[in-house]
Amino acid sequence: MEVIIQPSKEAAAALVSRIISKELRGNPHLILGLATGSTMERVYRHLVQMHREEHLDFSLCTTFNLDEYVGLMPSDPNSYRHYMNHHLFRSVNLDLRNTHLPNGMAENLEAECQHYEALIKRFGGIDLQLLGIGKAGHIGFNEPLSALRSRTRVKALTPTTIKQNAPFFGGEEHMPRRAITMGVGTIIEARRCVLLATGDSKAQVVAQAVEGPITSMVSASALQLHARCTVIVDEEAAADLKEKDYYRWIFENEPDWQDYR
Ligand code: F6R
Repeated sequence: MEVIIQPSKEAAAALVSRIISKELRGNPHLILGLATGSTMERVYRHLVQMHREEHLDFSLCTTFNLDEYVGLMPSDPNSYRHYMNHHLFRSVNLDLRNTHLPNGMAENLEAECQHYEALIKRFGGIDLQLLGIGKAGHIGFNEPLSALRSRTRVKALTPTTIKQNAPFFGGEEHMPRRAITMGVGTIIEARRCVLLATGDSKAQVVAQAVEGPITSMVSASALQLHARCTVIVDEEAAADLKEKDYYRWIFENEPDWQDYR
């Protein structure tokens, strides 16, 4: 795992978008794993800007999102399909037929989960998976105690997640209680993972995920098993990390990061 500390939320999101753009320019057929949530909005703003101003081309790219609420129509403003259309898909030249999210309206949810796994496999797996982190350490909707080898399935959301996302729904009573999510095992099979966390509310969980033990209580800690995972944080989210000087040294000195400094 590598940790990169950036001075601000904006700088952290800009770095993530530059990593994505470099991968996409190197491989126009990139299979890109996407996440939603407020942290990612900045990343998508940067990608849209790069598409407009630097001709970043998504025409051959295929995307797979991590998760979708159960029971929401794609047209529902709170669905993740709607979020993706709004923040990214409609503003870049992605072919909507190449964008995939689990179908939370499927009659047979278990079959839908298996179908989603099979689809990822058919495309040869995910090249680059973008991740956020919940306050209780989830990646996707892999709530605490999610098996570290879990695959795409339906998960019941924890009270912490419901509280975190309820404001978007106008209150907890309007919020779905379940979601389809890629499993932790599915996520760590991506060839590269990039996790973005910003703001002081994430400081404690970032330290647990990065420097704490691998535990299903903090799903993001499973990323320690990944051979190529980069965690990008702003100063606020880095506040509780013990080895900050070491992480800064690596970013300033290692040739891999030369193009990004
Ligand atoms: C959503 C997802 C979640 C979010 C996480 C952080 O697709 O994967 O794991 O990344 O809940 O959300 P924000 O950015 O809203 O704090």
